[in-house]
Amino acid sequence: MAGTGALGYRVHETAALDPGHGAAFDPWQRWREEPGPLGAVAAALLAANPHNTQPWQFAVRDTEVDLYADPDRTTGSLDPYLREQHVGLGCALENLVLACRARGLQPDVTLLPNETDPTWVAHVVLNTSVPRDDVLHEAIPSRHTDRGPFGPGTLSAAELADLVDATDLPGVQVQWLDSPQDVATLGEVLVDAATALVADDDQSRDGFVWFRGTDAEVQRYADGLTLDAQGLSPLMLTAAKLLPPSTRAAGDTFWLDQTRDVHTATAAAYGVITVPDVDDRGAQLVAGRLLQRVHLTATDRGVSLQHMNQITERIDRARVTGARDTFAPRLAALLPPGGRPLVAFRVGLPTRETRSSPRRPLAAVVR
Ligand SMILES: Cc1cc2nc3c(=O)[nH]c(=O)nc-3n(C[C@H](O)[C@H](O)[C@H](O)COP(=O)(O)O)c2cc1C
Repeated sequence: MAGTGALGYRVHETAALDPGHGAAFDPWQRWREEPGPLGAVAAALLAANPHNTQPWQFAVRDTEVDLYADPDRTTGSLDPYLREQHVGLGCALENLVLACRARGLQPDVTLLPNETDPTWVAHVVLNTSVPRDDVLHEAIPSRHTDRGPFGPGTLSAAELADLVDATDLPGVQVQWLDSPQDVATLGEVLVDAATALVADDDQSRDGFVWFRGTDAEVQRYADGLTLDAQGLSPLMLTAAKLLPPSTRAAGDTFWLDQTRDVHTATAAAYGVITVPDVDDRGAQLVAGRLLQRVHLTATDRGVSLQHMNQITERIDRARVTGARDTFAPRLAALLPPGGRPLVAFRVGLPTRETRSSPRRPLAAVVR
């Protein structure tokens, strides 16, 4: 009896039988309800972002939207230069632009409008125009990071190239690594970087802070990484939810195993977004726009995508600590000379349904 009771409690605690419900998931259902610029912000907050920190704030007026970085929502030693944070802000900006156009508001974007306020990352002026809906806008609510196994099929060079449209996004490029040799080699570097990351106490802790292991936490914070978003099979997911909440060590082991046995083992190809200067805030924002565009295009084409950034997180870590950086040369050896790697992701064919990750409501992100 006691066992059944405990199980019942855990079923309730993790929403094992009712995933993806409750207020923390409402933003995915209700993003079209709000008209005008506020509705475009409702689309922006569904964007990809590092560790689901949702590091944004918006100021909304009838003909303007301002986007700010939220200095309190960071991943510490995983992102010491706020590089990923700004890429995530760029992702939100891309959704904002698409949703403005769909609402008949032609957006005119100025990045980093005030050099005395580095948290003010974009000023968007809106002019009335003919509504312009497109497939990327339609893909906004279906786009999810897919951490499950990808299917055995490959993606041709033409199919990969077709995922990238860098119109109006100068200076950023996607480098595809799709030969079996390159895919295998980058997979090894990713596993080694994950191994180094979990062995680094600060980075391990700073990641675990954003893990939400119970439904109460998911509903309370409406952010962070969840069991539902790990790409597990239905059986494994239910089992994981019925076990006691994960410790940091168990979570690290799980992620490392998944990186080796699932993420890298089933990647069809990798994309690496390169920019001339990885420290350039403007380039980080533009790269985020391209990343979100690639992810939405992939969603539209039925291609799965998972962001994978442990290599650049270890490169930044070595810069901070002064340790010898073994990862930058290994990654550079796989890329053509010129652009510097900013973020990476794997693509492939889906085998499982992806699930929404929680989002904070509009009221929490509008100033
Ligand atoms: C800059 C950036 C870095 C990210 N790095 C990783 C990563 O290393 N591993 C991973 O599994 N997901 C990564 N993600 C995906 C986020 O965790 C994901 O976007 C977030 O949890 C929200 O989930 P969603 O994309 O399914 O809406 C990254 C996303 C961004 C924008």
